[in-house]
Formats: sequence, C-alpha cells, structure tokens
Amino acid sequence: MGRILVLDGHTTIALAVVRALGRGGYAVGVGADRASCLAGRSRHCLAAHALPSPLGPRADYARGLAQVIAADEYDCVFACDDLTIARLATIDLAVPAVPTTGVGWRRLTDKAELAVVAEAAGVRYPRTLLAATGDAFDTLGLPLAVKAVSSGVAHEDRIVPAKGAVIALDRAAAEAAIASFTARGAPAIVQECVVRHTKLNAVVFRHDGATTVRYAHRVLAEYPTAGGVGVSLVSIRADAGLGGSCVDALEAVCREAGYDGIAHAEFYVVDGEPVLIDVNARCWGSTWFGELQGLRVPERAVRAACGEASLPPASYRPGRRFHFVPGLLRWLRDGGPERGPRWPLVRTIRPWDGFDAVSFRDPAPLLPLASRR
Ligand SMILES: Nc1ncnc2c1ncn2[C@@H]1O[C@H](COP(=O)(O)OP(=O)(O)OP(=O)(O)O)[C@@H](O)[C@H]1O
Ligand SMILES: [Mg+2]
Repeated sequence: MGRILVLDGHTTIALAVVRALGRGGYAVGVGADRASCLAGRSRHCLAAHALPSPLGPRADYARGLAQVIAADEYDCVFACDDLTIARLATIDLAVPAVPTTGVGWRRLTDKAELAVVAEAAGVRYPRTLLAATGDAFDTLGLPLAVKAVSSGVAHEDRIVPAKGAVIALDRAAAEAAIASFTARGAPAIVQECVVRHTKLNAVVFRHDGATTVRYAHRVLAEYPTAGGVGVSLVSIRADAGLGGSCVDALEAVCREAGYDGIAHAEFYVVDGEPVLIDVNARCWGSTWFGELQGLRVPERAVRAACGEASLPPASYRPGRRFHFVPGLLRWLRDGGPERGPRWPLVRTIRPWDGFDAVSFRDPAPLLPLASRR
C-alpha cells in the first residue's frame, strides 16, 4: 500500500477521494493551493501541503509539486479538478498520476475531438464545429451552445479556466461568447443546442480494456433550475433501461478513444434516447455518493496506476438518493417557473439518504462550516 498525494484539497471531490483511499489502507497526503483545505481536515489525511496555484506558470507548479512528492516520498498523485489535470498533462512527473492524461484522455476532454469519437462509436452527440471555421450559424442554426474546446486550456504561463457553456439565443450573443473565450486564450466551439428532458449521469471505470464499474444516476433537481448541477440524485440501474443505454454509450466512447480509467458523462434524454453532452475523465461531483454505494472508484484508479491487483467488479442497489444540501436549499428557495413543485421531492428525502461530504465517522471537515453558520 503506497503513499498517495491527493490534489485540489479544497474540493468535496478531494474529500471523497481522501476518505476512499484512507479506508482502502493508503497513506494519504493532501495538496492545496489555498488556505481552506477541506480534505486536509479529514481524519484520513496524514499531511497537508501548500502548493503553487495550478493556474500559474507550468515551471512553478512542476517544481512545487516535485518537491512535495520527493520530500514525502509519494508513490502516486491523484488530481480532482479539470484545471489541475490540464496542468498535469503538460508536466513529466516522477510518479504515476490519476487520471492518466494520454491520448485517450485528450480525445475525451477535447470537446471537438469528442464529437469525432462519439460519431465513430455510434453515440449521439450534438453537432459541433470549431468556432474559427466561421460557417456555424448557417450549419447549426440557433440557439447555439458556445463552449471552450476544453474546461481548462493549458498555456506555458497559465491555465485558462473555461468551464461551462453559454446558450446563445441569437447571433450577437454567440459571437460575443466566442470572442470572450478566444480573448482569454481558449479556442471556442459551437454546438447544436439540445433541449433537455431528463438528465442522467453515467460512470465507468475501465482497466486493461475491461469495465469493472458500471453505474448511473438520474438528476431529480438541479440548480440553477434552467440547467445547472444536480443537487438531488437517485441511483438507477446500469444494466438495463436508460441508465444501461447511457453506460453502454459511455463505454463505447471510452473504447473508441482508447481511454482506460475513471470516466463520468452527462446525458440528456431526448425522445427516449440518450444524447451525450460531456465526458469528464476524472472523479465527478458526487464521487462521495459512489463511495456510499460501494463503487470504490478512487481506490480502483490508484490500484491500476500503481500496478496493484484489481478489485472485483462493483455492484450496487439502485434507488439510493443523494443531496447537495446548499444547492438543494437554493433550489427550494428558487421561485422560477423551471423549478417545478417542491413537495414531491421534499417528501422523499430521508435521514438515511446520502449527503455530500457528510460522514459521521469523519465529521471534522464539516465542523468549521457548522460553527460559521
Ligand atoms: N449542446 C448543448 N445543449 C444544451 N445544453 C448544453 C450543451 N452543452 C452543454 N450544455 C449545458 O452546459 C453545461 C456545461 O457544459 P459542459 O458540461 O460541456 O461544460 P464543462 O466545462 O465540461 O462542465 P463540467 O464542470 O460540468 O464538466 C452542461 O452541464 C449542460 O447543462
Ligand atoms: Mg466537463
């Protein structure tokens, strides 16, 4: 069992990863580039390290990270955030990293490349063009989704944060969004806008070309209500129905891209069929929900990176619910037309549901929040 350095310690994803690896028997340290380090307060964290910002110059981050790895003899680095992963993809590390940022990772996280991969895999994905090609308005019509080509674009001196999409209703708004991404140093893409009905998420873990985790959940509520992050989720079957179709589609794009490791994808269901919206080749926002259901995805990824024996395939019982409390409270307060009725969701919430970051065996990370309230 090795020593693992988990990066992006301020995120709840890192907290879930630290707990997962600590419970798996690893010695875990946490790196963060800011004072508030949620995951560093976990009882599973043995050491917290200050690191330079991954958004700054490549050489500074590479030097700071190499020093920590050497001083504390880490065997593996685990990154949780797209921007850190974009920086790691430009650095030669002395130890393996999760996720691996080879060709497969690039083909999934470059949103223009993903269009090519999805088509070859026979998976529905919005028609996509590089904004620089110019004829997007005639080809795709309006509204358009305008995004950066990837959520974090790496330059030698900086990483450009470029998460999310702008839904442009007219040509002027689309052109302004394209100009804004381009000026910041992130090439833009334009996409056909998909009208959402149901939002499903799929997760797979792949090792040596085989899939050992197949998992899916449905989004019950999201904030902002017009299209945001899931704040209330329910796990669904991954071997049949729509959940099964989403997981099959994610598996197919991973296979086509030549990617092994953790993959999470967002799907919109249109006319009863899943349309792929985004692939995240990393741990995802509700990684803790996966842990509560016994998927053990972070541990599988570290075992693969360190050449250790694989765990047996995961199984879980669908129907478990999970909530992001701050987001859910905002959803409840929202008075807009997109939210729908509160009561059908509220009356199904139970104390034994999963709650993001909450663990009675490891309460310390949340105590400062509680006392601040
Ligand atoms: N083609 C599209 N049609 C409609 N909505 C879209 C489209 N593309 C993206 N969106 C919306 O914008 C959100 C952000 O887009 P996307 O997931 O591609 O960005 P990201 O930077 O990868 O974000 P994340 O941090 O969620 O991975 C999606 O969750 C979805 O709600
Ligand atoms: Mg993404």
